[in-house]
Amino acid sequence: MANQKEGTEWGVEALHARLETGDEFFVFDVRNEDEFEAWQIEGRRPLPTVNVPYYEMLEVDEFDDVVDSFKAFLGQKWAEKLPRDKAILAVCAKGDTSEFVAEALRRLEFEAFNLAGGTAAWGDHYAIRPVVESEELTILQVSRPARGCLSYVVASGERVVVIDPLRHIDHYLELARERGWKIELVLDTHGHADHISGGPALAAATGAPYHLHPYDGIHPIDVLPARIDYAYLRDGQTFEIGRHRVTAVHVPGHTLGNMAFLLDERYLFTGDSIFIESISRPDLGGHGDTWAPIHFASLRRLLELPDDTLVMPGHFASLAEEGDNGLFAAQLGGLRQRNGGLAMAAGGEEEFVAYILASLPKFPDEYIEIKRVNAGLVEVKEAKASELELGKNICALAQAYGDGESGAN
Ligand SMILES: [Fe+2]
Repeated sequence: MANQKEGTEWGVEALHARLETGDEFFVFDVRNEDEFEAWQIEGRRPLPTVNVPYYEMLEVDEFDDVVDSFKAFLGQKWAEKLPRDKAILAVCAKGDTSEFVAEALRRLEFEAFNLAGGTAAWGDHYAIRPVVESEELTILQVSRPARGCLSYVVASGERVVVIDPLRHIDHYLELARERGWKIELVLDTHGHADHISGGPALAAATGAPYHLHPYDGIHPIDVLPARIDYAYLRDGQTFEIGRHRVTAVHVPGHTLGNMAFLLDERYLFTGDSIFIESISRPDLGGHGDTWAPIHFASLRRLLELPDDTLVMPGHFASLAEEGDNGLFAAQLGGLRQRNGGLAMAAGGEEEFVAYILASLPKFPDEYIEIKRVNAGLVEVKEAKASELELGKNICALAQAYGDGESGAN
């Protein structure tokens, strides 16, 4: 079967590669309007995209064959509008309906492909990139590019710490198996709101302790204590990984228990404090105005670090933040110049707070529920977990997402 599909579909790796290089192609998305509104495939540059729900293309009375039906509709309504000089990628939620759409487009002599596995597969795609790979030390950036989520695996010899593991823990377990590593420590920078942490599950699977700051062991909206098994993190706490040392730095603001981790005074895992193009928002616990000033103080603390500190964030808002090396990582010195939020943090507190409060994107309701899941207050199965995590994170200030999602209030 795989051979038959060769040349007619793109897998998610191929899609990722094209999005990264900024290759020109056209997206023909046949999901329902609400699914499309909630989340689209985005590239390094804006992707030309249309949404035509598949059911609008079905003429069940006239055609027995679904491809014939799609072909008739597309021939009539879209033949003149779709590009003939670039590839068209047909997309649906799971990659099944869009396969017929791509076939119909090919019969109309378009260069069309199907996205295998659809947006579900794209949403769950992981990429693993080395930041540092030496005999002494390995740092890998493990990302979910469709969601803009970043996590890290730090290894010295066979000893490994995983920072902010994402939900699909098999990726970390497989890495450890392949390389003969032992996951000895699992750290979360904070109680996440945008995605379900893989931390507790990875700790349970490996026997490694899972650490979280105790302030984030309390759900900020429900004000209920977490029911997960975790060890307390505190400011200044250190962890040895082989010959290397990780120091926990308490940087409240995004959450009250928000942490950054400094490795060897040189590599800074910032979680949700400093991103590449932006900074994190302080309102996801429902207390933006009171948390913004402590966010300011925390950013000032991180800004005291040397210019050559390598910042590795917990999120990105756009693939455009990726460097030429395929990584979301940059030296603090450079970020002082290019990151608008950091520039504000270098100024006065009052202006910073006003800037923050005027730059808050919409507050996704599901984030409250995701925090409950991460605190162990609610348990969800795979389908619900995927539904909660649908779409790109909105953990940074609105500037990182363009004007469209800004809903400051
Ligand atoms: Fe966050």
